Amino acid sequence: MEVKVLPSLLSADFLNLRDDIVRMESAQVDMFHLDVMDGQFVPNISYGLPLIEAIRRGTDAPLDVHLMTEDPEQFIETLGEIGVDMVSFHIEATAHAHRLVKYIKAQGMRAGIALNPQTPIIQVTHLLGDVDYVLIMTVNPGFGGQSFIDAGIDKIKELSAIRSEKNLDFEIEVDGGINDETAKHCIDAGATLLVSGSYLFKARDAKEMVQLLRGQHEG
Ligand code: DX5
Ligand code: ZN
Repeated sequence: MEVKVLPSLLSADFLNLRDDIVRMESAQVDMFHLDVMDGQFVPNISYGLPLIEAIRRGTDAPLDVHLMTEDPEQFIETLGEIGVDMVSFHIEATAHAHRLVKYIKAQGMRAGIALNPQTPIIQVTHLLGDVDYVLIMTVNPGFGGQSFIDAGIDKIKELSAIRSEKNLDFEIEVDGGINDETAKHCIDAGATLLVSGSYLFKARDAKEMVQLLRGQHEG
């Protein structure tokens, strides 16, 4: 599977959002990663559906929504109407993950399951035949600009092993503390969707950074 780079718009300048979207499009990113936080599941509030609707009008790139909220069920129908492409929710946030995965797909979107750093892979093994991707958090969710938690690499390896063993085809997304160094370890372990916030937005030459993140794939 091809490695893709997804800038997290949490690190964009909200006052100049269009400029930052255009800048990332020129840097040839693959899609945008949109972080929804509710101040309950995580100790921060980011933005919600109205802004996602505006972003949808502002770019033709695919949109990947990461729901860091309680009751993720309530947002799915509207996200489908807005026309986002991929939605992930946290296994820690619902008692009905399997039903929610099916529901997201029924609304025409790709479905992902996200895991906090403390959550072991065994919590989601029953979903691996149904999800389109698994999002491994390599920071505690809620804020951009934190340091990568190394234990995430073993989780990516564990998932890759299950994927080959059971002949499944879900993708592995990694989110938090991604830079050229950590990206390489994640790709080597089997991740193909790389979310990057502070590293990409701080870069003077974003295109070079995108290539650096993606180009490190040696396999
Ligand atoms: C964190 C979010 C991430 C965040 C990544 O809770 O889910 O998507 O924006 O930012 P960096 O790359 O700066 O760690
Ligand atoms: Zn995220």
